[in-house]
Amino acid sequence: MNLFKDAGHLFRFAGLFVIAFIAFLVIRGYVVPKSFGKYGHYRAAAIDEIAALPIKYAGHQACETCHTDIATVKGKGMHAHVNCEACHGALAAHANDPASVQPVKPDTAVLCVRCHSASAARPKNFPQIDAAEHSNGVPCETCHNPHSPAIDAGGAK
Ligand code: HEC
Ligand code: HEC
Ligand code: HEC
Ligand code: HEC
Repeated sequence: MNLFKDAGHLFRFAGLFVIAFIAFLVIRGYVVPKSFGKYGHYRAAAIDEIAALPIKYAGHQACETCHTDIATVKGKGMHAHVNCEACHGALAAHANDPASVQPVKPDTAVLCVRCHSASAARPKNFPQIDAAEHSNGVPCETCHNPHSPAIDAGGAK
């Protein structure tokens, strides 16, 4: 007997797979970006696109070359390892052209509690306060120098 007597539907089924595979290749050709795969599972052109973004942070070294007085005070205090732009925000525009871009002074009522408000999620030995209890609306910089905040270490304003 002929084993392939009724094989027509098998070939039609196989034909469907071939068509689906070709459709997949065509759609893939349109959808996958050109530079994908150049450096592995990654769109290579993304690197140039990211590199072309404007630089917003100057880095603390830049700040310290001009604001040497503040760098000296800060370097001896408890905020030695908190970088300028962590508090002042991105200031590359100011560092490149200090005369025309004047930074605003940070609002300590918002800034300081971002790191120091008491929370069970913070490490136990990190200094934390309940602002309402601790200063009751008196601005933090009335008593603390933001650049050298520990009062008992001679950082009082
Ligand atoms: C090229 C020198 C230069 C660099 C770099 C620079 N600054 Fe300045 N900055 C100045 C000058 C000049 C002024 C305006 C004079 C002044 O008030 O001391 C100023 C003013 C400021 C002020 C406002 C002072 C005020 O009294 O309101 C802040 C805050 C400040 N700079 C922070 C920064 C930070 C943070 C950086 C690093 C991202 C930085 N600066 C980098 C020169 C510089
Ligand atoms: C912990 C947060 C913090 C850090 C870190 C910090 N600053 Fe400030 N800075 C402040 C605050 C808050 C003020 C505003 C104080 C005020 O209103 O009296 C200020 C004020 C200033 C001023 C205005 C002049 C003055 O003394 O009031 C300059 C200039 C300045 N900062 C530069 C710097 C530079 C440069 C660095 C890095 C070396 C730096 N700051 C790091 C919080 C910070
Ligand atoms: C970006 C996070 C950050 C911000 C914003 C910040 N601090 Fe701090 N602060 C720190 C770190 C980190 C230390 C050092 C903690 C340590 O070494 O245990 C510190 C230490 C201190 C201390 C010393 C505590 C002690 O043990 O004596 C005081 C006081 C303080 N900060 C007050 C302030 C004030 C006031 C402001 C607002 C001007 C401020 N901080 C903003 C991160 C921050
Ligand atoms: C009336 C003055 C005053 C004001 C205003 C004030 N503080 Fe203090 N603060 C102190 C004194 C005094 C201490 C204890 C001495 C020290 O550790 O510096 C202290 C300690 C701290 C400590 C260390 C706490 C610890 O457990 O080690 C932090 C953090 C702090 N203050 C943050 C702030 C913040 C944030 C503000 C603003 C919301 C603020 N302070 C406002 C006087 C003040």
